Amino acid sequence: MTFLVTGAAGFIGSNLVHLLRRRFADRKVVSFDALTYAGNLENLAALEDDAGHVFVQGDITAPEQVAAAFAEHDVTHVFHLAAETHVDRSIDDPFAFLHTNVQGTGVLLRAAQQHWQGRDEVRFLHVSTDEVFGSLGDDGTFSEQAPYAPRSPYAASKAASDHLVRAWHETYGLPTLITNCTNNYGPRQFPEKLIPLVLCRALAGEPVPIYGTGANVRDWLFVDDHCDALCTVMERGAPGQTYCVGGRTERTNLDLVKTLLTTYDRYAGQPPGFSASLIEMVQDRPGHDFRYAMDCSFIEQELGWSPSVTLDEGLERTVRWYLDHQEWLHRVQRGEHVAFQQRWYKNGRRGTT
Ligand code: NAD
Ligand code: TYD
Repeated sequence: MTFLVTGAAGFIGSNLVHLLRRRFADRKVVSFDALTYAGNLENLAALEDDAGHVFVQGDITAPEQVAAAFAEHDVTHVFHLAAETHVDRSIDDPFAFLHTNVQGTGVLLRAAQQHWQGRDEVRFLHVSTDEVFGSLGDDGTFSEQAPYAPRSPYAASKAASDHLVRAWHETYGLPTLITNCTNNYGPRQFPEKLIPLVLCRALAGEPVPIYGTGANVRDWLFVDDHCDALCTVMERGAPGQTYCVGGRTERTNLDLVKTLLTTYDRYAGQPPGFSASLIEMVQDRPGHDFRYAMDCSFIEQELGWSPSVTLDEGLERTVRWYLDHQEWLHRVQRGEHVAFQQRWYKNGRRGTT
């Protein structure tokens, strides 16, 4: 059994790879990543001498690179996470999102279909987002029955990729699974997303931007809980099924940022309330979805998964990780990880570690 994790050098992908190596010591993990600005080999550095782990630099939109990875490693289980992931970037450059998230998912599905012809015991798990369901008002929750109603180019591209995955299941009988998850946070998240961006700004003593009124609501899930859900779905999920994953932890952005900064001040040795003065209300995001919230009772009842890390505990772990990894943050902010990766491959290590 060989796992292929696409997007493995990114935030959730790298946390998943580490979990897979801890949990399934006898199974090989192939990390496949194009190393865009969001991919960072440093996230996988601890596995450099691990014989059960292989890193392949590859692009999911390149059919020959994907087919070669399937063939060389005889991949049996795919966790598909590679994507362009930031809503603000999708507003500025929507076509990059269509190319990677839609075309790239199609290429992967085709490669799996061709490599697995007639085989049982294979699975394709597509990791998607709650944003495909659009925006909620004050009440209600998303669930597996929610209609698709994406509103940003990012969400629309993920919705399209979900539809492709279902099409491959219905048309070609590919044993696919889909998860739609709420906002993740935790170690190794690129500092363009809200929580690591706030921590960056607090560390530098710079303004912390909150879009609009700060009343928008997100449902937060610690990344380890998401990765645990992905392993659970891969092991016990029913092919063709979708599973909604969430933290049951709704917060307005303003409340979340205040709690985060309070936690930050405590661990950074600052007086209580010190960093809250950095908060600055700024112009709203165009088409800003008001509220996301997930009813995850189906995965709880069917597969016995539920979130285990509270928001307070998760924020403490996250703040401590960023305080302990300020060099990681500086290198990422300065784009040094990209330069390092280019040098690394130029020196002949392209392909595998
Ligand atoms: P990320 O931006 O941190 O990482 C994405 C990774 O994909 C990077 O390592 C990047 O190099 C890689 N990648 C991009 N284009 C590629 C290509 N063409 N070929 C190969 N690799 C490529 O993203 P993340 O936050 O870890 O999200 C991972 C997945 O989880 C995404 O599919 C996202 O839609 C989904 N998701 C994320 C969240 C969240 O809150 N972060 C919530 C729900 C679902
Ligand atoms: P983000 O982390 O970009 O995730 P998503 O847009 O996928 O939910 O943003 C989380 C929330 O925080 C979202 O409502 C937008 C808001 N936000 C800010 O208020 N300020 C910021 O600087 C960023 C990046 C996000």
